[in-house]
Amino acid sequence: MASFASLCSLLLIVSSVLVSSYFGVSEAKPSVHLVKGLSWSFYDSNCPKLESIVRKQLKKVFKKDIGQAAGLLRLHFHDCFVQGCDGSVLLDGSASGPSEQEAPPNLSLRATAFEIIDDLRELVHSKCGRVVSCADIAALAARDSVFLSGGPDYEVPLGRKDGLNFATRNETLANLPAPTSNTTTLLTELAKKNLDATDVVALSGGHTIGLGHCTSFTERLYPTQDPSMDETFANDLKEVCPASDTNATTVLDIRSPDTFDNKYYVDLVNRQGLFTSDQDLYTDKRTRDIVTSFAVNQTLFFEQFVHSMIKMGQLSVLTGSKGEIRANCSVRNSDNADYLKSVVEEDEESLSEF
Ligand code: HEM
Ligand SMILES: *[C@@H]1O[C@H](CO)[C@@H](O)[C@H](O)[C@H]1NC(C)=O
Ligand SMILES: *[C@@H]1O[C@H](CO)[C@@H](O)[C@H](O)[C@H]1NC(C)=O
Ligand SMILES: *[C@@H]1O[C@H](CO)[C@@H](O)[C@H](O)[C@H]1NC(C)=O
Ligand SMILES: *[C@@H]1O[C@H](CO)[C@@H](O)[C@H](O)[C@H]1NC(C)=O
Ligand SMILES: *[C@@H]1O[C@H](CO)[C@@H](O)[C@H](O)[C@H]1NC(C)=O
Ligand SMILES: *[C@@H]1O[C@H](CO)[C@@H](O)[C@H](O)[C@H]1NC(C)=O
Repeated sequence: MASFASLCSLLLIVSSVLVSSYFGVSEAKPSVHLVKGLSWSFYDSNCPKLESIVRKQLKKVFKKDIGQAAGLLRLHFHDCFVQGCDGSVLLDGSASGPSEQEAPPNLSLRATAFEIIDDLRELVHSKCGRVVSCADIAALAARDSVFLSGGPDYEVPLGRKDGLNFATRNETLANLPAPTSNTTTLLTELAKKNLDATDVVALSGGHTIGLGHCTSFTERLYPTQDPSMDETFANDLKEVCPASDTNATTVLDIRSPDTFDNKYYVDLVNRQGLFTSDQDLYTDKRTRDIVTSFAVNQTLFFEQFVHSMIKMGQLSVLTGSKGEIRANCSVRNSDNADYLKSVVEEDEESLSEF
């Protein structure tokens, strides 16, 4: 075990040295180790317009409804935490996927997020051909959601392939921490993914935008009120959710619900975090100082968020000859009648060229 771990860290060091020497002065790239098979310039030759296509389209989408940014950011998080960032969350049949009606609200992703991703795929593939994976499009969409909501811009390592298996409900539940989790649970669960306390606090800052359903936090109101919750905030939430299962939503960050900033941490310091998993980061001694440091210094939060997102974005990725590039983000190619037909036609064309 120990020697395997040291071999891994040796490989990481070697690959980071290679990467930095390859790029020469690479200060624009954050100092995160790249997983083998991913690169900062993966589509530079076969789809140079990729990032501008995605950004331009998302600008249009967010102009109509900035709330979609939150849906896309969360989608990438769910993708990465369950089975790795392989687009598995996008497949029909995934427990929090596009066709899933049974998922509890704490799992369900916005239906529109899946449509936005496949629309992006269609735009990108029509320009470049089927060379860009859905998993990479999801990672870029998350980055642009952060940036176009007011957050930091950053480079995304690319080269992910799409997985062949959707995530079952059990696997999904086992890999996504519940909003009722305390900090001990979060630290333990995320440590399994090689994410440390600073990553946990920084990534939770994703809750600076977006919405939550009553069922994700009413255990803090009924039958007894969580003493770590501000009184006025609790009373306001009781109006939104008069019963524990009221079907309503409220914002995750009461100070600036649509802006990606550090106000989420200011909320926590003021005991106005929505979920137990949020507020306990300030209650727990191990993470409190990190919360405070982000609450007083947005630049520090942005730097750390970028670092942690790039780390999260490389969890168990498929690269090289593993996986595939889906022709439709919600179905694998072997189940995609349109794709199979087009492959047959392509084969016939290439045969007739001989
Ligand atoms: C650390 C553990 C985490 C827990 C326990 C958690 C839990 C939740 C829950 C329960 C919701 C609301 C679901 C609902 O009631 O509809 C939610 C929403 C959201 N989460 Fe998290 N989350 C976590 C980490 C993250 C991470 C790492 C990100 C991204 C970096 C993220 C981004 C979001 C966003 C943007 C929303 C709003 C989605 C929308 O408005 O559609 N979360 N999260
Ligand atoms: C899923 O989890 C439940 C409860 O933990 C268990 O009873 C069930 O057998 C599991 N299903 C599968 C397919 O693993
Ligand atoms: C979602 O809520 C259900 C009950 O409402 C709970 O059993 C489950 O653990 C929660 N899962 C997550 C990932 O929040
Ligand atoms: C955190 O939650 C776990 C699981 O529910 C529980 O066993 C543990 O006692 C809790 N820890 C603290 C410090 O509250
Ligand atoms: C909750 O309300 C929304 C919109 O009003 C509706 O589409 C959805 O089906 C409702 N969900 C449940 C579980 O009642
Ligand atoms: C805030 O954090 C940034 C980035 O780490 C640092 O350069 C800066 O000095 C910090 N500002 C203050 C006022 O501490
Ligand atoms: C992708 O597949 C889904 C599910 O089979 C289907 O509903 C949708 O129309 C397909 N999208 C495109 C662009 O063909």
